[in-house]
Amino acid sequence: MQLRTIISTALVAAPLAVSAAGTLGFAVGNTNPDGTCKKSSDFESDFKAIKDNTDAAIVRTYSSTDQFGNACNTPSEVLPAAKSAGIKVLLGLWPDGGAWEKEKAALDAADPASFGDALYGITVGSEGMYRGTYNAEELVGWIQETKKDYPNTLVGTADSWNCWANGSMDSIISSGLDLILANGFAYWQYQDIKNATKTYFDDMAQALAHVQEVTGSLDKIHFMNGETGWPGTGGTDAGAAKAGDDNMESYWKSAVCGLLDWGVDLFWFEAFDEPNKPSAIGDNGQEASESHWGSFDAERNPKFDMRC
Ligand SMILES: *[C@@H]1O[C@H](CO)[C@@H](O)[C@H](O)[C@H]1NC(C)=O
Ligand SMILES: *[C@@H]1O[C@H](CO)[C@@H](O)[C@H](O)[C@H]1NC(C)=O
Repeated sequence: MQLRTIISTALVAAPLAVSAAGTLGFAVGNTNPDGTCKKSSDFESDFKAIKDNTDAAIVRTYSSTDQFGNACNTPSEVLPAAKSAGIKVLLGLWPDGGAWEKEKAALDAADPASFGDALYGITVGSEGMYRGTYNAEELVGWIQETKKDYPNTLVGTADSWNCWANGSMDSIISSGLDLILANGFAYWQYQDIKNATKTYFDDMAQALAHVQEVTGSLDKIHFMNGETGWPGTGGTDAGAAKAGDDNMESYWKSAVCGLLDWGVDLFWFEAFDEPNKPSAIGDNGQEASESHWGSFDAERNPKFDMRC
């Protein structure tokens, strides 16, 4: 397959070819289709669907509050469910718009360190550098505060692959964080499905290569793909990128199974359709639906076979 040639040139120094397969994870929202905050029992149903239908061992969340700023206390709800399901959680905090204190307080209230292995780590922020909703100095401060309070927990942040690759996040790479999550969507780069896997691998290779250059190491910071995905049927097209369940499945088989094969951990965005999710505005200024990105529908039925 062509891909192997491309990636082995791009990542010639990386230990990917000799490492074990990557770990599959899912992004999960913290609200139900009716807009209410997910409780432990809702997360339990999420995890049952994920475990019954996939090889995933980890999920990531984004925030302790819902999109309207209502407290969902997500850390306190998701961790007990994960522990009983034998799933790990990468807990996300959403510091945008002055929410840091509130997000951090909801984390502390959950006593996350008491959940042992069920807590994989904590991420502070998701694509805020890309969106310009906080700056590098603020982010470094939050990461270091989290690290100080949870010294035995992995702490990281997620952002778009191009921000990791182009030098604008170098102070964050050097801030002492443990996890770098680079998000990459060939869809948002308006790629035809035929070129999507190549684009995705290229994105990841550029981000990882720059992180390795800045740290002077191949693996000092654990590098993960924080999000990738493709909208299913009912979603919006983005240029040559066409939404549809068939393209989602084909992207999964090629891009997701391919990157896992190369030993990179990744999170699929997202597990379940979120019919209540507001639309996103693409780089072209057009509104795009974000409610059909699940590889499961909103009732937690799988859309296709997710085993690689
Ligand atoms: C890096 O990429 C981001 C996202 O495209 C952009 O906003 C930023 O201006 C770029 N920074 C540099 C230094 O090129
Ligand atoms: C396909 O993806 C590669 C890698 O990102 C890119 O260089 C190339 O321009 C893409 N081709 C098209 C037709 O967009």
